[in-house]
Amino acid sequence: MTNLVTIDPSELQQKLDNAVLALESGKVLFFKLPFDLSEDEVQFLTPDIVDPRSKNISYDIRGDSLRGTICEGEKGDILKAMLRRYAHFSRRLVEKMYSHHLTQARTSFRPVEAEGRATSAHKDDTRLHVDAFPANPVSGKRILRVFTNVNPSGKPRVWRIGEPFADVAASFIPTLGAPLPGLARLLKALKITKTLRSPYDHYMLKLHDAMKTDLEYQKAAPKEEVLFPPGSTWIVFTDQVSHAAMSGQHMFEQSFYLPPEALKHPERSPLRILESLLQKKLI
Ligand code: SIN
Ligand code: FE
Repeated sequence: MTNLVTIDPSELQQKLDNAVLALESGKVLFFKLPFDLSEDEVQFLTPDIVDPRSKNISYDIRGDSLRGTICEGEKGDILKAMLRRYAHFSRRLVEKMYSHHLTQARTSFRPVEAEGRATSAHKDDTRLHVDAFPANPVSGKRILRVFTNVNPSGKPRVWRIGEPFADVAASFIPTLGAPLPGLARLLKALKITKTLRSPYDHYMLKLHDAMKTDLEYQKAAPKEEVLFPPGSTWIVFTDQVSHAAMSGQHMFEQSFYLPPEALKHPERSPLRILESLLQKKLI
């Protein structure tokens, strides 16, 4: 498979330069690396523990807080400890590559089947997209994510990986309008965004939406189906890699933010690619 670069976890230290180059070039780093659940934790492998109003359970290590579950009391504590454990597990892995630059964001546990879960086109992650979130501007910071499939019955997480970012950007950028003057400030004042939406955030969000709503593109775009079996862990810059999650159940995910200065190959980043296509600075 061309989009996957497989690395033996015990060799990551010696292969760091290759791993970072692959990752920053838009490859998926793939590890045969399980996240084992304890006897106390296997009880959580059911969608019944998810609050019906959310699609997954999320943990924030910055405030040690858990959301999206109906579990309370001791059961809630065990669940929270499981997500905290995954937060540490995934951090140890990416720290080898980007040590002190990392900001650790949300950890999530997804015991709900990914297929048929979408509520709207923009929220439909079974359509090819690059990640960009309306309320959370990143101002050029990268979105790096670690995933682990913990399905107990052998079911893979099935993704599609699309074309390289430069190709995605080249096909959509001409159709995306420039940010309206004053809009970023308004969105911030109305608390629709948490911070000011930079021109970079504007284009990334437009790109995300345009990809998902273009059904012709979804059909015709070059893509590869990738199966992540239980017991595997993968790391991806999801703001760069065109991806779609087609099916699968029981997965952990950890998001990190990485400042642009931490990149070893910044010329390959979405920011630089967009700036060169648009011939202007975006942050
Ligand atoms: C996504 O980031 O689009 C979803 C990934 C997944 O649920 O497998
Ligand atoms: Fe995504």
